[in-house]
Amino acid sequence: MRVAMIGAGYVGLVSGACFADFGHDVCCVDKDPAKIEALDRGEIPIFEPGLSELVAKNTREGRLTFTIDLQQAVGNAEAVFIAVGTPSRRGDGHADLSYVYQAARDIAAAMDGYTVVVTKSTVPVGTGDEVERIIREVRPDADFCVVSNPEFLREGAAINDFKRPDRVVVGTEDERARDVMRSLYRPLFINETPIVFTARRTSELIKYAANAFLAMKITFINEVADLCEAVGADVQQVARGIGLDKRIGGKFLNAGPGYGGSCFPKDTLALVKTARDYGSPIKLIETTVEVNDARKKAMSQKITRAVDGQDLAGKTVGVLGLTFKPNTDDMRDAPSLDIVPALQAAGAKIQAFDPEGHEARQMLPDVAFKENPYDVAADADALVIITEWDQFRALDLDRVKLLMRQPVMVDLRNIYKPEDLRARGFVYSSVGRE
Ligand SMILES: NC(=O)c1ccc[n+]([C@@H]2O[C@H](COP(=O)([O-])OP(=O)(O)OC[C@H]3O[C@@H](n4cnc5c(N)ncnc54)[C@H](O)[C@@H]3O)[C@@H](O)[C@H]2O)c1
Repeated sequence: MRVAMIGAGYVGLVSGACFADFGHDVCCVDKDPAKIEALDRGEIPIFEPGLSELVAKNTREGRLTFTIDLQQAVGNAEAVFIAVGTPSRRGDGHADLSYVYQAARDIAAAMDGYTVVVTKSTVPVGTGDEVERIIREVRPDADFCVVSNPEFLREGAAINDFKRPDRVVVGTEDERARDVMRSLYRPLFINETPIVFTARRTSELIKYAANAFLAMKITFINEVADLCEAVGADVQQVARGIGLDKRIGGKFLNAGPGYGGSCFPKDTLALVKTARDYGSPIKLIETTVEVNDARKKAMSQKITRAVDGQDLAGKTVGVLGLTFKPNTDDMRDAPSLDIVPALQAAGAKIQAFDPEGHEARQMLPDVAFKENPYDVAADADALVIITEWDQFRALDLDRVKLLMRQPVMVDLRNIYKPEDLRARGFVYSSVGRE
C-alpha cells in the first residue's frame, strides 16, 4: 500500500519506518526542512535504539522516502497518517489541536481518489469528527474516511512496541476503511496481535484512558513509597508482592521522582479537561495530576535533607540522568526540569551528565555539563540519580566515593541496594526504602 505519514517525529518516523519494513511504500512528510534534509542524508534526528538501521535498510530498499512536499506525498497515497504533535495548550491544559487541523486542511487539498485519513496523534474525543468536517469543507467532492488509530509505542522500545504491540486499536465503523487498516497491519494479524475495532470516539478515548491509568498506577506506587518510608517498609517488596497478583500486574510499579515525558503529563491534563467539559469529571486523574506535580517539586527537599538538612548554599550537587527516562533523548516534561532548578534555587551548584539529553543544555541554564559520571562525582557534596541509564547501574563506586567531597548518594530510581552502598561507606537514600 502507499502510505503518507504527516509528521516525522518520534511517532511518525518510527511508524513510517515500521510500515515500510512491513513492505508498504511510505513517504514521511515534515514541515521542518532541517529534519527532512537530515533524514535524506541518513541522519536520524532523534535517539531511538535500532531506528537508524531500520530507516537505512528501508530507504536503501526504496520503500521509505522523506519530503517537505505534502502534496506530492498525499496525492498518490491510499492511507494518510496524521502523526503531528498535540502538546498542552498554553494556559488551560487542553490539547493544542492546531497542528492536527492544519494537517487536515493540507491533506484535504492534496487528496486524490479514495483516501483513508488516520489520526495517530493522541487527540481528544471528537477530534476525528472535526477533522472530517474540515476535509469536507475544503473538498466537498472528496472520497475519504477519517479513522482513529492511536499509538501506544514507548520511546526507548518504540520499534519493538510497534512491531509487537499488545493490541492495535482502530476506530471506524466504515467497512472499506477497516479493510485498508487490516491490509496495513496484516503482518501483525499473522502474528495474532489483537486488533480492536471500535467506533471512532471510543478509540480516541481508549488512548487517554490507557495513559491515565498508567500514570495513576505510577502515582499510586509513589504514594505507597512515601508511606513505606514513614512506616519502615520496602516499596520494592510491596510492589513485587502486589504485582504478582495478575489482576494488578507488576509493570509500572517502580517508585521514583514522579512521571514525566512527552505523553503522560499532557495526556492526563487533557483528559481532565475533556471530562470536565462534558460534565463528567474524573477525580482520580485530577488527583493523580496534582500528586505528581507536587512530588516532582518535593524531590529537591528530599535531596536537601540528604545533603545536610538545611539548605544547599555553597554545595555542589552532581546529577546523573536528565532525560525523562533512559534510552531516549526526549527532555519533554522530564522530572529533571523541576528538580534541577529547585536545587539551584536552594543555592546548589549543579554539574550533570546524560548520555543523550543534549537538549538539556538549552533547557537548564547555569549547569556545568560533564562528559561522564565520574566528572559529575568529582568534588560533589551529593550525587543524585534522576534517570536510570544502564551505564549508571555499574559505576565504579569506590572511585566515585574517592572523587566526591562527601559520599552522599540520592538514588531516585532505586537502582542500587541500600545495604551495598552503606557497606561501601555511602550515606545513601532512595525512594520508599529505609
Ligand atoms: N512520543 C511518544 O512516545 C508518543 C507515543 C504515543 C503517542 N504519541 C502521540 O503522537 C503524536 C506525535 O508525537 P511525537 O512525540 O512524535 O511528536 P514530535 O514533536 O516528535 O513530532 C511531531 C512532528 O510533526 C511535525 N509537524 C507538525 N505539523 C506538521 C504539518 N502540518 N505537516 C508536516 N509536519 C508537521 C513537526 O515538525 C514534528 O517533526 C502526539 O499526539 C503524541 O501525543 C507520542
